[in-house]
Amino acid sequence: MAKATSQYICAECGYISSKWMGKCPTCGNWNTMQEQEIAPMQAFGASSKRKYTPTGANKPKPVTKLEGESFRRFSSGIDELDNVLGGGVVPASLVLIGGDPGVGKSTLLTEVCAFAAQNASCMYVSAEESCYQVKMRCDRLGVSRENMLVLNETNADEIAQEILTGGYALAVVDSVQAIYTPELSATAGSVTQIRECALRLMRAAKASGTAVFLVGHVTKEGTLAGPKVLEHLVDTVLYFEGENSGAFKILRAAKNRFGSTNEIGVFEMRGDGIFGVENPSELLLSENRGVSAGAVATATMEGSRCLLVELQALVSSTVYGTPRRMSLGIDYNRLVVILAVLEKRANLSTANQDVYVNAMGGIRIIEPAQDLAILLSVASALSNTTLGNKTAILGEVGLTGEVRAVPQIEKRVAECVKLGFERIILPKSNLKLLQKYKDKIQLIGVSHVYQAVKIMQKKQ
Ligand SMILES: Nc1ncnc2c1ncn2[C@@H]1O[C@H](COP(=O)(O)OP(=O)(O)O)[C@@H](O)[C@H]1O
Ligand SMILES: [Mg+2]
Repeated sequence: MAKATSQYICAECGYISSKWMGKCPTCGNWNTMQEQEIAPMQAFGASSKRKYTPTGANKPKPVTKLEGESFRRFSSGIDELDNVLGGGVVPASLVLIGGDPGVGKSTLLTEVCAFAAQNASCMYVSAEESCYQVKMRCDRLGVSRENMLVLNETNADEIAQEILTGGYALAVVDSVQAIYTPELSATAGSVTQIRECALRLMRAAKASGTAVFLVGHVTKEGTLAGPKVLEHLVDTVLYFEGENSGAFKILRAAKNRFGSTNEIGVFEMRGDGIFGVENPSELLLSENRGVSAGAVATATMEGSRCLLVELQALVSSTVYGTPRRMSLGIDYNRLVVILAVLEKRANLSTANQDVYVNAMGGIRIIEPAQDLAILLSVASALSNTTLGNKTAILGEVGLTGEVRAVPQIEKRVAECVKLGFERIILPKSNLKLLQKYKDKIQLIGVSHVYQAVKIMQKKQ
């Protein structure tokens, strides 16, 4: 029987099959199997006559004798990005930045490229846009520099060659889905092409010492288009998130070989560029938070950083049979559970009420530490009472109505103190860690949601 010369690879999870399938058996996605040619060596590998005799030339060396890594980081010009990268850009590294279209990847990297071009030669490879469009963006951002070279090229081999010979400190390739290598017959954007192109750029980066930033688009599900293999290949994977209309964009590291993945960067998009936000809590909280019923403040952790967020709830009578529940920035299932706890454990029913809850500023809340704040915002909207703008709420809520301790409580309380809050309703079990804050802020410990609701209804 003739040997197979092609195989099928799932674009989402990298599953390999010898036959085409409509649905990937591993990840369950439809229409993701793409044909890939098998290199002749691979196809006939087992029966190959070619024999390799090891030369033994490459010997291991003691770690103390190794040359100190020429690990001289340089600043990207944007402090928030430097933080996420672990303290600056590492030469010879390959960084992948993923994000939805329009989130600001090109804008961010144009600024980075222009900043680095102040001291060294840098290249911006635009495979998606024309040179003219890049120029227009540079002019709009006010960052046109002599040393920033722009290349309009989609051939990955040409790009890699230019990186190798150009002596650049930094190169940006926008985007990895738009480039191709003519050595493969697959179309640009297919798994095989993405992986092969990234590999070539990686080799060029390592050989030339150029830091290469790759832009990648994300799929509907929010993962980088192309399989996970791309994430394994590169040194750092950053995700740029944020609603297109949202005030803030958040840059997170999903993988970082040169630093922690705990740091996040918060950016604000303006007409004249993208700016790091040093103190996002101040911007996320409105002046009249807690003044109208339904609005409460809480502290959420984003990596190692604490953000104060305002939650707003609106409750209105149901017009049609089934009450509506809608949440923005908050997990829907969590909201439904909290409404059930509110009804059963605090006697506040939303049975014939529509409930809308929103985390302001386009922030997504993923921690359970905001449960009590969500619960009290709905309770506040329901009973038309307020907590005042100097009160923050923290606590996880259990199904029995108990309020459970939250992690990293000191950081959260410190942030509240910094921003002028006067009291915090928090889990009783967290109190013993907070002795030193006793004089600075009023700490009200609660162990059951019923107590929290009572406190809110008592104090206007
Ligand atoms: N001339 C302009 N003035 C103001 N904002 C603009 C202009 N051109 C583009 N933008 C905004 O900049 C944002 C980021 O665009 P871009 O960096 O190209 O995103 P990406 O590369 O992630 O797709 C977009 O949301 C867009 O609305
Ligand atoms: Mg772009």
